[in-house]
Formats: sequence, structure tokens, C-alpha cells
Amino acid sequence: MTSATNDKPRFRPSQSRLLDEPIATAFFGRRKGKPISPTQQALMDDLLPRISLNPARPVDDVASLFAHKPAEIWMEIGFGGGEHIVRQAKSNPDVGLIGCEPFVNGVVKALVQMREQDVGNIRVYDEDAAHILDWLPTASLDRLFLLYPDPWHKKRHWKRRFVSDANLERFIRVLKPGALFRFASDIEPYVNWTLNHVERFDAFEEIDATPEKRLEAWPDWQTTRYEEKAFREGRRPHYLTFRRK
Ligand SMILES: C[S@@+](CC[C@H](N)C(=O)[O-])C[C@H]1O[C@@H](n2cnc3c(N)ncnc32)[C@H](O)[C@@H]1O
Repeated sequence: MTSATNDKPRFRPSQSRLLDEPIATAFFGRRKGKPISPTQQALMDDLLPRISLNPARPVDDVASLFAHKPAEIWMEIGFGGGEHIVRQAKSNPDVGLIGCEPFVNGVVKALVQMREQDVGNIRVYDEDAAHILDWLPTASLDRLFLLYPDPWHKKRHWKRRFVSDANLERFIRVLKPGALFRFASDIEPYVNWTLNHVERFDAFEEIDATPEKRLEAWPDWQTTRYEEKAFREGRRPHYLTFRRK
């Protein structure tokens, strides 16, 4: 595995390419849960710096961030405990995956799986994914996953939802023509919110746009911790697929 970018200072939102828009890019969730063990800390100190992305350093060729010059670049926003991104990385060794997750305990879980399963085709950013979306070159992603984003139920918190006009504009810029954006959620109001927001953009078309198809998991789906919680609590997952025209 090659060393990715690791020097400070970290990217600041004020360097955003989309500086003059009303930015909805702050991270509102938890950064830390229970204390991490010394073994986990060792992974954070050893593995994470080698695979971390640093958006302060410009990038022209995203494939060059990976040791194997991947054929495609996929990105997952808010990978949680890493179940899905690690599985996709393992099943698709010719792809390079970028994962963003500011929750330290989630990052640690993903690192453990990467080490145990000898996965070397993931690069990690442990802060707000919007920084990476603004840093990536135009038309550089082949696939984008937003799986069980925080629903922010209260109306006054809706502006915190990751699906927003500003972020959809970011998606449109970084996705290649024909690239796919996959969204999963068990919260129906957020599913409808997403459908309504995406509909406003001509650049996207929904694939399998029927109520029945939206309840079918993708053939290569790997369930996540939040999805399992949704099933336990009796909620029905929805899977939306959009193609960048
Ligand atoms: C409800 S959890 C779902 C986690 C995982 N996708 C799953 O299905 O188990 C939402 C995740 O999104 C992450 N998140 C929230 N805002 C984010 C942002 N701006 N950039 C990257 N990740 C974010 C949170 O830290 C959290 O881990």
C-alpha cells in the first residue's frame, strides 16, 4: 500500500471551491463514542495516516492515490462501522474506494476490518465528506454511496440533512456521466425528501423508479449496522438508484 497524503494542515472549509454558495457542509453528528482500546489506537496511529486523504494537497488524478491505479473510483459518505465499504473493496479489487466518516469509533471499526481482511484499496477521510466532494476533480467518481444518512427528524434540523441542493450540486460535479448514486434509508420522510430534492435536478434520472423496486436491495448489497437496527425496530429499508446523465 502506498502512502496517501498525510501532511498538515488539514483542509479548511473556507478553501472550498464552492465558497460563495450557502454551505451546508458542517458535520453535526458525534465524533467519539466509547474509549478506544490500545490496539485500536495503534491502528489509528499506524494504518490511518497511511491511507488518509488530505484535501489541502491538490489532486488531478484520483487513481494516483491508490497503489494499483484503479479502473474506477467509488466513494461512500458516512461509512459508519465500515461493513459496506470494506465488503465492496474486497469484492472489487480493481476499484479504488474513498470513505468519509468523522465518527472515530466507526473509523476504528473499518480499520480493523481492513487489516483483518487485508484490504488495501480504501482511502479514508475522517471529517466532513463535503470537503472531499469539493476537492475531487470534476467527473472523477464512478459510483457514490450515501447509506442510512442521519435523518434529522425535527423540522428545525432538516437543514442538517446530507441530501441538500448544495450537496446534490456537489454530486453532479464529481460524478462522471453515467455514474451511479445509491441512497438507502429506512426513514420514509427522508426517502421522500431525497426523491423530491433529486427530482429538481435534470442531471439525475432514477433507475428502477417504482415503489416495489425501491424496496429491493441491490444485488451486491452488504447490510450495515444501521440497516440491521432498522429491521430489528420494524422499519423497511428503501434503496434508491440515480444515474448521472
Ligand atoms: C446513521 S449513520 C449510518 C452509518 C452507516 N452508513 C450504516 O448504514 O451503518 C450516519 C453516519 O454518517 C456520518 N456522517 C454524518 N455527517 C457526515 C458528513 N458530513 N460527512 C461524512 N459522514 C457523515 C455519521 O458520523 C454516521 O456515522
